[in-house]
Amino acid sequence: MHITSTLVLANAARTIGIVLGVLLLLAFAIAILFNMRKGRAEVGSEVELAANRKPYLDDEELETKKLDRTLGAGLVLLAVIGIALPLYWLAEPSRQTNAVDAFKEEAIKRGENVYINGAQCASCHGPNGVGGVANYTITDPATGDYVAAVSWRAPALNTVMYRYTPEQVTLILNYGRGFSPMPAWGAPGGGPLTEQQISDVIEYLISIQIPAEESTAAVQAELDKTCAADASGNCTVPGGPYKTLGEAVFNLGYTDSFAGGAYSCGRCHTKGWSYGQAQVPGGGGFGPNMTNGSEIRQFPTAAQQVAFVSAYPKAQTSYGIQGLSSGRMGSFGVNPNAVDPKTAIMSPDQVMLTQDQIAAVVAYERSL
Ligand code: HEC
Ligand code: HEC
Repeated sequence: MHITSTLVLANAARTIGIVLGVLLLLAFAIAILFNMRKGRAEVGSEVELAANRKPYLDDEELETKKLDRTLGAGLVLLAVIGIALPLYWLAEPSRQTNAVDAFKEEAIKRGENVYINGAQCASCHGPNGVGGVANYTITDPATGDYVAAVSWRAPALNTVMYRYTPEQVTLILNYGRGFSPMPAWGAPGGGPLTEQQISDVIEYLISIQIPAEESTAAVQAELDKTCAADASGNCTVPGGPYKTLGEAVFNLGYTDSFAGGAYSCGRCHTKGWSYGQAQVPGGGGFGPNMTNGSEIRQFPTAAQQVAFVSAYPKAQTSYGIQGLSSGRMGSFGVNPNAVDPKTAIMSPDQVMLTQDQIAAVVAYERSL
């Protein structure tokens, strides 16, 4: 009995399984049928055949007209490349220089903006760097007490590339001259301008340098006014401020602030010179004391001294008997930016003073 009932149960389960299987097959067949009916008519096929299912050109057409047209177009394009590419290549160098010029022009424009508005260099050094004056209060370095209110000459910058390299100017701008109205502008000296702005303002300064003839003529006119030296270098202006050409050169611009004193030696070598209260001539200031025959001791011959003043040595090079250049003075007879013709940014005739004027001022210094 036990066995029989198990068999009946097993049969029932099999029957259910078969019925279910048949039902599933039926459903599957119906689904396929439906799908086939749906799939027969493609969507949109009744409107137009897809491009890849259209009949293409016949061989006749494909191998004549179509082929010729394609080859012709290829030839035209090849010619375009063959002509345009060399033309493009030919124009490349000028395109590069134009790009460099455009960059430079942008820098000059930005520098001019710094010069006039940003840092107001113009308010002291004059428009276009012609030189000017700055109101300044001198205080006691020890106590900070008020000493005097003065007008301090700000040297012309339209010849600054006659005497300094861009590196030297960068140094001056970075740290300023703390004893004077000239503040520190660069970050290294705690100033407000960025490295980029300093380099831009220097590009601007380079762009405003005056031609050599203009500078030489202006210096000569000033010397004619204050000295009018005769053949032996003695001044002939009646009751004039100077005895010799050398003294007049040393003090160029002292009486009338010509070029903000840029061409003078006194502004650095005589205390009080820049604000019209010159003390001992050549007695020392920013530059060393030259009195009591110190220059004859430093430079055994005048020629050595002329060479030093003309082409001021690079910073940290020694000169004379016991001199060491600090890079602060600048060249007065050789333009340091015109020495190497390959990298020159100035012309060799753009110099502060002529060799005769330098010889005269050196003779004056050796007499102090
Ligand atoms: C407040 C006035 C003032 C301002 C502003 C000023 N300067 Fe000066 N600058 C001077 C004075 C004054 C001197 C001369 C200091 C001395 O007696 O050594 C000087 C010196 C210089 C020198 C050295 C020139 C030389 O031959 O010895 C340079 C370069 C210079 N300034 C550039 C600039 C530039 C660029 C700016 C603007 C970023 C500027 N200065 C802003 C007053 C000023
Ligand atoms: C911007 C300031 C400045 C101006 C302008 C200047 N000097 Fe000097 N000069 C110096 C400094 C600073 C030294 C010291 C050397 C150094 O620091 O490199 C010096 C040194 C000298 C020395 C050597 C002195 C020694 O005993 O070692 C002579 C000579 C000299 N200057 C002549 C001149 C003559 C000439 C002029 C004008 C044509 C002139 N200087 C204009 C700043 C100046």
